[in-house]
Amino acid sequence: MEENSRIPVHVSIIMDGNGRWAKERGQERFYGHIEGVESVRACTEEAVKKGVRYLSLFAFSEENWDRPQAEVSSLMELMVKAMVNELPAFLENGIRFIVLGNRARLDDRLNAEIDDCMQRTADCRNLSLVIFLSYSGRWDILQAAKRLAAEAAENPSGLQDIMAMSTDDFCRYMSTADIPDPDLIIRTSGELRLSNYLLWQGAYSELYFTDTLWPDFRAAEFDAALEEYAKRDRRYGKVK
Ligand code: IPE
Ligand code: IPE
Ligand code: MG
Repeated sequence: MEENSRIPVHVSIIMDGNGRWAKERGQERFYGHIEGVESVRACTEEAVKKGVRYLSLFAFSEENWDRPQAEVSSLMELMVKAMVNELPAFLENGIRFIVLGNRARLDDRLNAEIDDCMQRTADCRNLSLVIFLSYSGRWDILQAAKRLAAEAAENPSGLQDIMAMSTDDFCRYMSTADIPDPDLIIRTSGELRLSNYLLWQGAYSELYFTDTLWPDFRAAEFDAALEEYAKRDRRYGKVK
């Protein structure tokens, strides 16, 4: 097989373990989130270098809204800051920035920064960096079903159209309609679960778990995950 075909098109990461990383150093949890931004930068650069086309990152789940208010607001503040800081680098390196998730729950300022960053990087083609923010897999499936139902209600043959749908047709209603399913999902920090992430899109993703905490997950760890992926035999239920 060609070397390149073993590079995943879409790598997705559940960035976990910031709080524990900070605690190990006797620091507040927020210190871990700040250091985690450095890992985002390192993995983004490495993804570009390796020819990965889509890097998606689970940054904040719908469930994370139930964390203490102080942590939630400092995380949102950090997102705004990181976006503003990174925009010049995105433009310089051809990185298209996309945010997916339940954006109705984000505050106006953050939504405005996101729109600005998305618009200004819309023509960048080296790598799409997708941030899942206020996202959950169940939310995504539910919003798809609601949009489909609303559309069907407007159309006399709506119900018939739904009954004739394939799973590929349904994908067009998911928030991820414009991006391919992840080939590889990485989770850091030793937790062996999906925590409501990409439940639909991850149907045939290869899974990679590492004990490394997110703030320590840099280029070498990213490369190790790609190496492991290259050894996997993806069968999609068929006999090879
Ligand atoms: C991941 O690190 C970042 C977010 C979920 C926002 P955590 O904050 O979950 O860190 P741990 O898992 O408590 O160590
Ligand atoms: C998953 O991490 C969510 C993100 C990485 C954004 P959590 O720390 O919220 O997950 P649980 O609570 O350990 O399942
Ligand atoms: Mg966690």
